[in-house]
Amino acid sequence: MLQDVERILVDKDELDEITTRLAEKIKIDYANSKKPLILITILKGSMPFAADLMKKIDLPLELEFMKVSSYGAGTKNSGEIKIHLDLMRENLEQYDLLVVEDIVDSGRTLSRLTQLLKNRNANSVRTCTLLDKPSRREVPFTPDYCGKVIEDEFVIGYGLDYNEKYRNLPYVGVLKRSVYM
Ligand code: IMP
Ligand code: MG
Repeated sequence: MLQDVERILVDKDELDEITTRLAEKIKIDYANSKKPLILITILKGSMPFAADLMKKIDLPLELEFMKVSSYGAGTKNSGEIKIHLDLMRENLEQYDLLVVEDIVDSGRTLSRLTQLLKNRNANSVRTCTLLDKPSRREVPFTPDYCGKVIEDEFVIGYGLDYNEKYRNLPYVGVLKRSVYM
């Protein structure tokens, strides 16, 4: 795998700093909330990030998972999202939801997903992303919590994949263009 990595973008230490910083902010923001907090991990890419983050959030919380994908092939995202695994919860008005995502690109996935959860009357819906590529935005969307803003480069590792590979790298790296060109 190493020969496919152009360079390391976010190393282990920085990932650790990011999850510590975000968890502290989340703890402060939700400390006085009257509703239980549910962390929604978006499978599969957010799994390592959510696992590290939740261990540092010193508040009672519950865990759920969703699996969503955008319609259309390739690196371009078309308008709709498909729900492969839905939230196993009802009465969302009783909960604060925090959606944990690996990366925001066009913004379509999270803007649609947050709208969907708000339509189900969740008490609150916020988003936390490890990485953000704002220069790629196709719809207006700003995550509530963001680990790191990055340039328009294809990144892999720490959950992020290219064709389902590289998710197990312990850092975020830039994928060599020769791998996908
Ligand atoms: P959006 O709807 O375009 O914001 O899509 C975000 C999703 O696209 C992420 O959850 C990733 O699955 C995928 N994605 C976007 N950029 C990258 C990248 O650089 N590496 C790996 N996956 C990416
Ligand atoms: Mg994803």
